[in-house]
Amino acid sequence: MNVTVFGTGYVGLVQGAILANVGHHVVCVDVDAEKVDKLTQGIIPIYEPGLEALVKENSAAGRLRFTTDAAAGVAHGAVQFIAVGTPPDEDGSADLQYVLKVAETIAEHMQAHRIIVDKSTVPVGTADKVRARVAQVLEQRGETALSFDVVSNPEFLKEGSAVADCQKPDRIIIGTEDDHSVEVMRELYAPFNRNHEKIIVMDVKSAELTKYAANCMLATKISFMNEMANLAERLGADIEAVRQGIGSDPRIGYQFIYPGVGYGGSCFPKDVQALIRAADAIDFDAKVLKAVEKRNYQQKTTLFEKILAHFDGDLSGRTFALWGLAFKPNTDDMREAPSRVLMEALWAAGAQVQAYDPEAMEETQRLYADRDVLSLCGTKEAALKNADALVIVTDWQSFKAPDFDLIKQKLSQPTIFDGRNMYDPKRMARKGFTYYSVGRQA
Ligand code: UGA
Repeated sequence: MNVTVFGTGYVGLVQGAILANVGHHVVCVDVDAEKVDKLTQGIIPIYEPGLEALVKENSAAGRLRFTTDAAAGVAHGAVQFIAVGTPPDEDGSADLQYVLKVAETIAEHMQAHRIIVDKSTVPVGTADKVRARVAQVLEQRGETALSFDVVSNPEFLKEGSAVADCQKPDRIIIGTEDDHSVEVMRELYAPFNRNHEKIIVMDVKSAELTKYAANCMLATKISFMNEMANLAERLGADIEAVRQGIGSDPRIGYQFIYPGVGYGGSCFPKDVQALIRAADAIDFDAKVLKAVEKRNYQQKTTLFEKILAHFDGDLSGRTFALWGLAFKPNTDDMREAPSRVLMEALWAAGAQVQAYDPEAMEETQRLYADRDVLSLCGTKEAALKNADALVIVTDWQSFKAPDFDLIKQKLSQPTIFDGRNMYDPKRMARKGFTYYSVGRQA
């Protein structure tokens, strides 16, 4: 099948690559000529396991092409995916200008029936707006006889496992009431729908809300656990025991109940906020979502508060080793990363940071090039040198079993602030560390 994908960000690029990999012919369109150029050469702008190989293989096989030529893109695919960004605007609502611009572009160039698929995370009602914009442009062109449909088909991939998530989706949501579109979308996704039925067809608004509801539910689990962790700490309990105790109930489950330094990334913070704003706009007070957001905001500062208390409120002249900058492991993404809130608070308090991350060093350099209070270190060991304490923010695999004797030797004081509960507090005490974690007793 011929498919066009507008937008070569996380969602669009992965989607294009996995569709090409099962034999579809995919054209990816982006306005950024430099990016298109690099992608054509097999240079991937993001770190995502498995993606580079997939792009290279399918480009070489002629099934995946990148272009800035929108007209050629519109001519190519019977299915036209919109996978461009929906950044928050000033008040936190999703900004739809890029989505609507693509809708216009499709309408300007289409010569035959097109199925326009919203893949980006967009507020309920966006498909209607896309539909109206396309109809308006077709009318201006005097082409009202040209037919089209707008389908909502949200993406549920996680950064760091985006390729695997797309290749083995838990569900494929298709929001449309048009039988022909359902048939085409079923054919498109047939290679991913083999072992059991994963396709769920629903009306377009429910599909749009499903995406937000999923992310907001997961964010709620995390904020709830962070609240329990704060309580456990103050009540003399251990959140790790509580986590296992409640996770064993299949209605609760073990996933997404890890307390930590708050959720970050390009999705949860943005989507929770966008749904709150969407609710506000129709005079509905989304009380639970507001609490989820508030808890997360506070959680991002808890590690800093522990550090401040340990050093009696004075961090001036102190140096901290920081392990983990990306908002989660297996990505170089720093968007809304808790490490940024922490570093900025440490700097404001007069401290220096020696940081290491397995993937996000370049991105950190780009963000904080002008900060002389930040040294980026080539290894996690180098970051420890003469630091007053080690602070762990991201739970990378390579931090799980470090050489504790070496840590002790390199730090000027054997103190660890662990935002991800990586180690056993009793063991750390036996090894002579002052060890702070989340929701457990020191
Ligand atoms: C999230 C969703 O998990 C995807 O299903 C969704 O498709 C995606 O957003 C999106 O809307 O595009 P992602 O942002 O890649 O994916 O990251 P997650 O793995 O969900 O992690 C989000 C944050 O929650 C991270 O900061 C992570 O450290 C934190 N987290 C996660 C916890 O603090 N505790 C947990 O138990 C789980």
